[in-house]
Amino acid sequence: MAQEVRGVIAPGKNEPVRVETIVVPDPGPGEAVVRVQACGVCHTDLHYKQGGINDDFPFLLGHEAAGVVESVGDGVTDVAPGDFVILNWRAVCGKCRACLRGRPWYCFDTHNAKQRMTLTDGTELSPALGIGAFAEKTLVAAGQCTKVDPAVSPAVAGLLGCGVMAGIGAAINTGGVGRGDSVAVIGCGGVGDAAIAGAYLAGAAKVIAVDIDDRKLETARTMGATHTVNSRSSDPVEAIRELTGGFGADVVIEAVGRPETYRQAFYARDLAGTVVLVGVPTPEMKLELPLLDVFGRGGSLKSSWYGDCLPSRDFPLLIDLHLQGRLPLDKFVTETIQLDEVEKAFERMHQGDVLRSVVVL
Ligand code: APR
Ligand code: ZN
Ligand code: ZN
Repeated sequence: MAQEVRGVIAPGKNEPVRVETIVVPDPGPGEAVVRVQACGVCHTDLHYKQGGINDDFPFLLGHEAAGVVESVGDGVTDVAPGDFVILNWRAVCGKCRACLRGRPWYCFDTHNAKQRMTLTDGTELSPALGIGAFAEKTLVAAGQCTKVDPAVSPAVAGLLGCGVMAGIGAAINTGGVGRGDSVAVIGCGGVGDAAIAGAYLAGAAKVIAVDIDDRKLETARTMGATHTVNSRSSDPVEAIRELTGGFGADVVIEAVGRPETYRQAFYARDLAGTVVLVGVPTPEMKLELPLLDVFGRGGSLKSSWYGDCLPSRDFPLLIDLHLQGRLPLDKFVTETIQLDEVEKAFERMHQGDVLRSVVVL
């Protein structure tokens, strides 16, 4: 029997989001229905609402979520009703070229539910990133459910489903930060702070946080930054070089998504160092760099999608480290809110005093 629950939809371009009754079908083969317990508010949800992702309105927003599996369809063996899970948007296929080469984090045929959730009049909804979790229940592909230790609070766990995983993974998976490395992170929002926490966890000897807002730099220190640079008042490239014996950092992570901060990252790294772009640029942005510098400085210029994470490997591990007190994921939850407060959370996101607002159900 399909069920009716409440969910937050974006009805049309730039229209305010609102809570509506949505219809969640029973899980078909390979699918699962999850009772959502918490879902963070991410920039991508706002981009959907603004029509910046595509025009498939109405959207069912929300994608950084944790909850309990309620029911599963035929052929589902990896999760069962009652399992506590984090939802992911990288349910790997196991069959594409990337998967077969042993690099499933680059999978290009990831799974979502085949059936559609709808409004009560039958209008099909497009779930954000194939998840749609600002809702009491949601329908996903079973592979989108990653089991983790249920001892963790759902509001904290859900954040690993997107932005926080992107940041931690940018440092650990993409940047390959290791013991003794010097790391600089440009932009200390939720993603940048997660990169700082990831670098700290990986054993970086120096973690330099760069932002234009002193409040952000203060928070960055609590995530593991050893040094901070306000790039409004001092040149970040000079400052990072000074803090690293004149060399530059081994790994510089750009978590803003702008050409000028990318350029800073490029010049703030040591020769043969690594730049990781995890901030998301807009389509019109262009980057100009002397090709000779790209060549002459060596090293690698990488970008990081979802922190190059493999949910089945990374989520349980990071939750365990959090429960052991080694990863302060709880610090990313600035406030918990209700389903009908998502629009307000979008506004707060821009005022810059929120790392994450999390809807709890
Ligand atoms: N130099 C340094 N820091 C900057 C600059 C700049 N020129 N411009 C903005 N910032 C800082 C902001 O002060 C803020 O602390 O970057 C941070 C951005 O944080 P958020 O807006 O909270 O964004 P976040 O969720 O961290 O995402 C960062 O990654 O996933 C993408 O779409 C996301 O592009 C965005 C980026
Ligand atoms: Zn694949
Ligand atoms: Zn997201």
